[in-house]
Amino acid sequence: MAKDKNEARVLIPPVHVGVIMDGNGRWAKKRGMPRKFGHRAGAKTFRRIVRHAKHIGIKYITFYAFSTENWKRSEDEVNALMKLFEKNLDDLDELFEENVRIRFIGDRTKLSYSLRKRMEQSERESLNNTAMTLVIAINYGGRDEITNAVRTIAQDVRDGKLDPADVSEELIQSRLYTEEMPPVDLIIRPSGELRLSNFMIWQAAYAEYYFTDILWPDFSNKDLEKAVEVYCERNRRFGGV
Ligand code: FPP
Repeated sequence: MAKDKNEARVLIPPVHVGVIMDGNGRWAKKRGMPRKFGHRAGAKTFRRIVRHAKHIGIKYITFYAFSTENWKRSEDEVNALMKLFEKNLDDLDELFEENVRIRFIGDRTKLSYSLRKRMEQSERESLNNTAMTLVIAINYGGRDEITNAVRTIAQDVRDGKLDPADVSEELIQSRLYTEEMPPVDLIIRPSGELRLSNFMIWQAAYAEYYFTDILWPDFSNKDLEKAVEVYCERNRRFGGV
């Protein structure tokens, strides 16, 4: 509820939350275990946080699962992550029953055929669900997304379908992976890193940030609630006064 007409002190939860699931590797290292052990623990946290986000009324939640830069990791780690994504998609099927819609963002062309098929199936089967939209970013990069959008616009201009004067923010938004989704209100990044790392750079233009030192596998439901509470106390002015 706005305090006065100039001050949007929001006591309503963020509509769209973005989560950078960071710290799995360090979590595993602290236990003397391989990095993929940390990713498995991170996937468990992911499944729990999805449910809790729905429980507290978040309508969109986007998780950064694999960036366009993550291919630089060892083949062993990349393969383990890809396997983990497929396995988690099987586990996520039960979310369909809970009215959760699943969407993926990112460049799918580099993913395996079986993972792509699995992603399409989850999207198709959950298409009409309305309680919450769960977005998973795989092979996603904000710059890559904007570059692709610009490329399709340039093509339309060359084909005479579009006048350069008609290129607007709305048009660019409509060419992004997140075309129909609301902008991100809150970005949560655990593990003590204070950066965006190419995550939703267009969509997060006015996002609030919540950073914590907790490593992602240890991120609790209470930590999510705390992030939302902190967000609600922020004074969002969107460039106004
Ligand atoms: C970053 O931590 C984490 C990742 C690159 C992978 C995140 C993926 C999962 C948790 C699996 C979730 C599953 C689904 C289906 C979404 P890091 O490895 O960079 O950690 P570090 O900074 O401590 O090394």
